[in-house]
Amino acid sequence: RVAWVGRTHDADGSRSVDPRPSEAAAGARIDGSIAFPTLEHVGGREDVAGVRRAEDLGGVGAVDIDVQVDLGGRSVIPGFVDSHTHLVFSGDRADEFAARMSGTAYEAGGIRSTVVATRAATEDELRARLAGFVGELHAQGTTTFEVKSGYGLSVADEARLVRLAREVTEEVTFLGAHVVPFEFREDPRFGATGTAEAALRTADAYLDLVVGEMLAACAPHVKWIDAFCERGAFTSEQSRRVLEAGAASGLGVRVHGNQLGPGGGVRLAVDLGAASVDHCTYLDEADVAALAASDTVATLLPGVEFSTRQPYPDARRLIDAGVTVALASDCNPGSSFTSSMPFCIAVAVRDMGMTPAEALWASTAGGAAALRRSDVGALRPGTRADLVELAAPSHLHLAYRPGVPLVRRVWAGGELIA
Ligand code: NIG
Ligand code: FE
Repeated sequence: RVAWVGRTHDADGSRSVDPRPSEAAAGARIDGSIAFPTLEHVGGREDVAGVRRAEDLGGVGAVDIDVQVDLGGRSVIPGFVDSHTHLVFSGDRADEFAARMSGTAYEAGGIRSTVVATRAATEDELRARLAGFVGELHAQGTTTFEVKSGYGLSVADEARLVRLAREVTEEVTFLGAHVVPFEFREDPRFGATGTAEAALRTADAYLDLVVGEMLAACAPHVKWIDAFCERGAFTSEQSRRVLEAGAASGLGVRVHGNQLGPGGGVRLAVDLGAASVDHCTYLDEADVAALAASDTVATLLPGVEFSTRQPYPDARRLIDAGVTVALASDCNPGSSFTSSMPFCIAVAVRDMGMTPAEALWASTAGGAAALRRSDVGALRPGTRADLVELAAPSHLHLAYRPGVPLVRRVWAGGELIA
């Protein structure tokens, strides 16, 4: 069966999707072999969804067939949109992971060991490692992805990371406010090893650099600013300072919040009109209500709770409240070293109360909403031809067959990439 038809679209010759099966052009019915996330999966919020049932798209006029693919009964879904990764780094923290599996708690401080390894790496080493991760993403069906800095934490190192990230994606995020680096913590002028007040002073001194010279060096290469608003990292006030400085430089806002415990991250994100607040593991009623009344996407990162043995975030509660939910990998060497969106979907369905269709929506259109994009994450006329063919009759198998490599072929912008 022919499951989709691509056609040359714009004046610039770029390809976009026309998801009508060729039979539809001849007036036949769509045979159901395309998995379309639908509006109902985000509580009917049309503004962010913009995706429709396959039936609504069929049977309209003739199409210029540009590419025709016989899927033989297999299904096709939009390419995954992974809206949260930290892929420019060196080293790994397998020992830290093993210790956690034996009961050691995850702490934000582990980030500093990756900073040491990343600073010591050459640009070519970092570029080669990043290219390897991009290959992993493509092979697993991810066609759009965001990359954050945050393992450099000096002006030169952060600038290097955002430049490298920009070589592989337009969705680059400056995360200078990840943690306070060693050289500030060990600086006797701040005395951070002593009291809580001293720790705040140290963080403030580091943030002077972040909102000053570091932001100036990174802003030309990035689209987004992010801050880790969490105990062990930065307070709400400190995070606000960083995010407002980024916004004043023209960057969109994203926030890491409510990962390790309750806190002000979600409220801050909503207050600043952030595109997304990510983690959302520990939420109170006011957080959920604030998200539901906002355009801020709640991005859930199941790989983190899997790899840190924390309780999973409650996706059901968020969706039922009307919050727009995205799923992302958070791929990083500390809290979540998976690059697999199918893995995230399987966990979200098994342990976070999402239906398979909701999880598919959240990892495609939801990720696009988190990046404020409408050209990716859905199959409809005019979107980029980013398509994943599954070696399965439906998207249900992504959760039903966890760990099985079901991604068969991947197209990005109409080109076969994996
Ligand atoms: O999203 N939360 C902050 N940053 C990463 C963890 C980074 C690390 O542990 O190296 C995260 O989980
Ligand atoms: Fe993260």
